[in-house]
Amino acid sequence: MNGLVIRRQEPTDAEAVAAYLGDAAVMAGTLQLPYPSIQAWRDRLARPNPLDYVLIAEIEGEVVGGGGLHMNDRPRRRHAAMLGIGVRSSHWGRGIGAALMHVLTDAADRWLGVQRIELTVFTDNARAIALYRRYGFVIEGTHRAYALRDGAYADVHAMARLHPNPPRLPVS
Ligand SMILES: CC(C)(COP(=O)(O)OP(=O)(O)OC[C@H]1O[C@@H](n2cnc3c(N)ncnc32)[C@H](O)[C@@H]1OP(=O)(O)O)[C@@H](O)C(=O)NCCC(=O)NCCS
Repeated sequence: MNGLVIRRQEPTDAEAVAAYLGDAAVMAGTLQLPYPSIQAWRDRLARPNPLDYVLIAEIEGEVVGGGGLHMNDRPRRRHAAMLGIGVRSSHWGRGIGAALMHVLTDAADRWLGVQRIELTVFTDNARAIALYRRYGFVIEGTHRAYALRDGAYADVHAMARLHPNPPRLPVS
């Protein structure tokens, strides 16, 4: 997509992150709360977790979305990472979500040593499910009444993608 820049999330993004996560449609599709606190995001981004790999999508200097991989510190789950993604609803359908998924799955496969990417998605979020399927995710199961969304408990699918071609150590 013309003019789209994908880059790492920086501490200076706090206001923009609060703005895109506060988009009503992004909030509804994720587990974010209404009226995100800019100060809370400033605090969080000032002390980045080294296990988080979070990217921003920007068009002509405007933050339009982002996504990240959240890796595990538990030894037996170090091969797995949780994925989250969101694009401002004003910019849906232009390939921004796909661009983020491309970069995140590439980073997971080729740089971060992630073998399994997992996520949850509301079962009626057809747009996100289609995007995840396109990037190799499959539905592994359904959690019932998983999260409160706009006054009702909603179901989510657990989806995951295993590394299609995991790197191997040489046999000596
Ligand atoms: C999911 C989300 C990130 C997608 O972002 P986007 O920039 O619109 O994504 P893209 O434009 O790259 O692709 C969307 C795909 O969904 C498809 N799509 C759109 N509406 C659809 C529908 N109702 N049913 C099925 N597929 C649909 C599009 O055709 C496109 O696929 P294609 O490129 O193969 O044609 C965005 O909608 C979003 O932020 N939603 C709110 C937050 C959210 O739900 N996050 C996921 C939490 S698990």
